[in-house]
Amino acid sequence: MDQYAVVGNPIAHSKSPRIHAYFAQQTEQNLIYSTLLGDLAEFENQVRDFFEKGGKGLNITVPFKERAYAMCDILSQRAKQAGAVNTLMMGKNGDLFGDNTDGIGMVRDIIHNHGQSLTDKRILLLGAGGAVRGVLEPVLAENPESVTIANRTVEKAQALADQFDCLASSFDALDGPFDIIINGTSASMTGSLPPLKDTLVSDGTWCYDMMYGKDRTVFLQWAHERGADGADGLGMLVGQAAEAFYLWRQIRPETASLVDEMRKQM
Ligand code: ATR
Repeated sequence: MDQYAVVGNPIAHSKSPRIHAYFAQQTEQNLIYSTLLGDLAEFENQVRDFFEKGGKGLNITVPFKERAYAMCDILSQRAKQAGAVNTLMMGKNGDLFGDNTDGIGMVRDIIHNHGQSLTDKRILLLGAGGAVRGVLEPVLAENPESVTIANRTVEKAQALADQFDCLASSFDALDGPFDIIINGTSASMTGSLPPLKDTLVSDGTWCYDMMYGKDRTVFLQWAHERGADGADGLGMLVGQAAEAFYLWRQIRPETASLVDEMRKQM
C-alpha cells in the first residue's frame, strides 16, 4: 500500500494521520499515513531513507520546513515564495519535489468554508514571520485592493512588503478599518495579543486566526468584543492537508465535514 507520513519534532500529537485517513476513506484511496519523529541531526537522511524505501509523500512540520526546502531539487512557485516546504514527493526521475500548501489551504478555507472573498478587499496581516510569509502569495493571487503587513519589528514587515509588493506598518501607525484581518503572529500561543487599536475593525470586518483551539482564541475574542465575526485556523490545518492530498492523489477531498467533526471532539 502507498506510504505517506508527517515528519516533525515533536510529532506525537499531530492530527495529520487522522485527517489523511479521513480523506482516504472519503475518496476511496488505499494508503497508509503515519507519523515520523524527526531527528534534529538526521532529518535529511530520514527523508532520503523514506523515499528510497518507496514512500510516496511526506508532510513536513515544525521545525523542519526550511530544511526540507533546502533539500529539494524542484520547488513549486508558492514554496519558493514561502521559503519553506510542507509537502514532499519524489518525481519519476528521482528528483525531490517540494511544495507549500499552507497558504492555499488557508485561502481556500476562507473562501470555500467561510464564504469570504479576498478580492478587492483591504487586508491586514498581523506578523511577519514564517506563517505570514507562507500565505502572502496565495492571498495576493486573489487580487485584494491592498495588503498591509503589520509587525512588532517593523523592519521584518518592510522586508516582506518589499519582496511581495505590498504595504508595511507598525501596529501604532495602522489606519483602519480593514475588511479582513488575518492574525499570523505566534502571540496567540502564549495567550497574548499585539497592540491592536479598536479602529482597525468596523461592523463589516471579518477576522481569521491561523491559530485554533477549543475556546475562542484571544485574537478572535478581541474581534468579537468589537462586533467583528471570524474563524480560527482549524480549517487551515485541514485545508493544507487537503491540498497535499490533492498533489499526491490528484483528488481534492471535501474539508468542511471533517472540520466540523474535529471541532466537536476538541
Ligand atoms: P512563525 O513561523 O509562527 O511565523 P516566527 O517566524 O517566529 O514564527 O514569527 C513569529 C511572529 O509573531 C513574528 O511576526 C513576531 O513578531 P517579531 O517579528 O516582532 O518578533 C510575532 N510575535 C510573537 N509574539 C508576539 C507578541 N507578543 N506581540 C506581537 N507580535 C508577536
